[in-house]
Amino acid sequence: MTLTLVPPITPLPAPPRPLDVLGVPGQVNLDYAASAPCARAAADAVTELLPWYASVHRGAGALSRRCTLAYERARQTIGDFFGARPGDHVVFTRNTTDALNLLARCLPPGTTVVTFAGEHHANLLPWPRGSVRLPVPESPAGAVRALDAALTELRRGTHANPPVLVAVTGASNVTGERWPVAELALVARRHAARIAVDAAQLAPHAPVDVAALDVDYLAVSGHKLYAPFGAGVLLGRGDWLDAAPPYLAGGGATSHVGSATHDVRWASGPARHEAGTPNLLGAVALAAVCAALADEDRAALHATEQALLTRLREGLAALPHVVELRTFGPDAPRVGIVSFVLPGRDSGDVAAELAARHDIGVRDGLFCAHPLARRLLAEAAARGGRTDLPPTALRASIGLGSTAAHVDRLLAALAELG
Ligand code: ALA
Repeated sequence: MTLTLVPPITPLPAPPRPLDVLGVPGQVNLDYAASAPCARAAADAVTELLPWYASVHRGAGALSRRCTLAYERARQTIGDFFGARPGDHVVFTRNTTDALNLLARCLPPGTTVVTFAGEHHANLLPWPRGSVRLPVPESPAGAVRALDAALTELRRGTHANPPVLVAVTGASNVTGERWPVAELALVARRHAARIAVDAAQLAPHAPVDVAALDVDYLAVSGHKLYAPFGAGVLLGRGDWLDAAPPYLAGGGATSHVGSATHDVRWASGPARHEAGTPNLLGAVALAAVCAALADEDRAALHATEQALLTRLREGLAALPHVVELRTFGPDAPRVGIVSFVLPGRDSGDVAAELAARHDIGVRDGLFCAHPLARRLLAEAAARGGRTDLPPTALRASIGLGSTAAHVDRLLAALAELG
């Protein structure tokens, strides 16, 4: 009898998913905290809209009307994704830094801003003189206590209740540690203060809802949220934003301009702060990622990332020549970011070697959070009784598309450097 051989069935490749991220084979990207790779949802949304690309809010043609609709739909999608309330505005910005600078320009006169020294520069430098910078706390509970004490002190003896804005991060860009945003919001409320959250590092890793958290403002960056097309968002209470001078003065931000120099009526709503042709593709890309994330099982995504993070941190802890940086205790909740140093080794040299010899991309430096990073380096040196820690650190950060193989490649490369 002759046997007919049936050729093996080649499984079809899995269809692409909206939250797959683009990358280059062979390259291990562990620098999501600086700029995350592009999600397919963002790339597809941009590709689909490109043939229609035309002006926003400025044209009667079909292309222009479609683009205007896409832009405003993006605003709605992003607002819904972050739990915007009636009366909130969603203003498109370039990134989180831009969003927080916009908020700083909208503070009512006499506002005191209260931050912690552990913030990214974006949440330290825009605030006016006279802002209060609280020391980095030792624990999330310590942050809540310190804020309560500071606000009690600020309110002492004043009956006028001048405006106070608390500005905190949702998750540290240096350590990934999460800050107790809901508890800090509760304290702010008790003292009739408002609260703004820098969610640049939190939003890519966990659901963030301004209504549920009871926070007044949220700042996010598209380029950290898998939508690297140059848009970010400031979302929050409309009253301060509508009362402030426009962030950018120009076309689109006005409802009337007369011929006399000061004969201008500024628009209210997001348009007031969005003069000039907006970044349509950035807005649409960010909205596409928000929509894709909203359709996902966020708890499952979180669990996968936490498992990888544990693998990474345990692997680092097992390397005797690696010292992790942290603000809080070792078990404080974190997103997928870890900073560390190799005593006696320059962090810039290590990063360059990881790139050149292993095709691994990490970030080195002080991560635009100089006060915090320097403090953590000093504390790590004191904890370990060491004098050989370098003046800057390394940071590995993960997210969608990161795998155990990526983590293991970093750990193996670091082991070789021991
Ligand atoms: N803020 C970005 C970072 O932490 C750039 O790397």
